[in-house]
Formats: sequence, structure tokens, C-alpha cells
Amino acid sequence: MIRVCFVCLGNICRSPTAESVFRHAVRQADLEQHIDIDSAGTAGHHSGESPDPRARAAGARRGIRVTGSARRFERGDFDRFDYVLAMDGDNLHDLRALQPPSFAGKLRLLRSFDPRAEVGAGVPDPYYGDEAGFDEVVSICERACQGLLESLRREHGL
Ligand code: 4NP
Repeated sequence: MIRVCFVCLGNICRSPTAESVFRHAVRQADLEQHIDIDSAGTAGHHSGESPDPRARAAGARRGIRVTGSARRFERGDFDRFDYVLAMDGDNLHDLRALQPPSFAGKLRLLRSFDPRAEVGAGVPDPYYGDEAGFDEVVSICERACQGLLESLRREHGL
């Protein structure tokens, strides 16, 4: 089993969107029995909350059900995942600070798998913006998750 965790700040907008988009792609590829998917946030302010209604609406516009219950990413999570995918540079910075030396997996920006992204690009935080920002998050997640899936297929011979 390949275990993947998407991480943003609050775990209510970007990372549950990425999780749901990737789950959808993995299901379509019939690879659910090989890839385990989760998400979390570097902060715990929204723990226990459902994804933001605006993120759920943006997903629904593209036929994707954005689900989940927010939780904080903890140091022990590094033992549970093979790929920890940060949504932006701040998340990556915070995760690097938390990462134990024993972590044998990969900690990367999700958009390193987006063929259209420049090096170091993040998924813009839509929280204080409008509906269009949430639609953009879905588009970015769709591209990056497709790239991620292709990479996992190649790397693991799926
Ligand atoms: P997320 O978005 O990190 O994509 O879940 C945010 C959610 C909440 C806040 C900021 C960003 N906040 O400031 O409460």
C-alpha cells in the first residue's frame, strides 16, 4: 500500500480538495487497493470541522464530493505516510520543522507534480478570497493529482 497525505494550513479548503480529487482519480484508475489517501493541516484551529462549504461547492461543480473531518498533522504521521504533499511553501516549511530524522518517505510540494507549475509554486490559499479562487484550487489539484498518479504508477509499477 502506498500511503499519501495532503497537507495545508487548516485542512478545510485545499488539502481536503486535493484528497477528494486524488481519491476520484485513483478510483477511476481502479487503484484503490494500492493507494491510501488522507489529508491534514499544520494548524489545529478547525479540527473536527467539515470542509469549507465553498470548497465543497467548487468540487461539486466538477463532479467531485469533497469530504472529510479536519485534523492536525502530527509528528507521528510521518511514520504512517510514504508521501507527504504540502500545498504551499509555508506548509512545507512547517512540515520540515516537524519531520523526524527517521522519515523515509517523500516530503514535497504537491505542485511539483503539476506540469504547468513553476518550481516552488504552491496552491494559492482561497480562504479569504472569492468563489473563483476555490475553482482554481480544484483545477490545480486536478492537474497536480494527475501528475502524481502518473508518477506513482511509474515508480511503483502500477
Ligand atoms: P486551508 O485554508 O489551509 O486550505 O484549509 C485555510 C483555512 C483556514 C484559514 C486559513 C486558510 N484560517 O485562517 O482560519
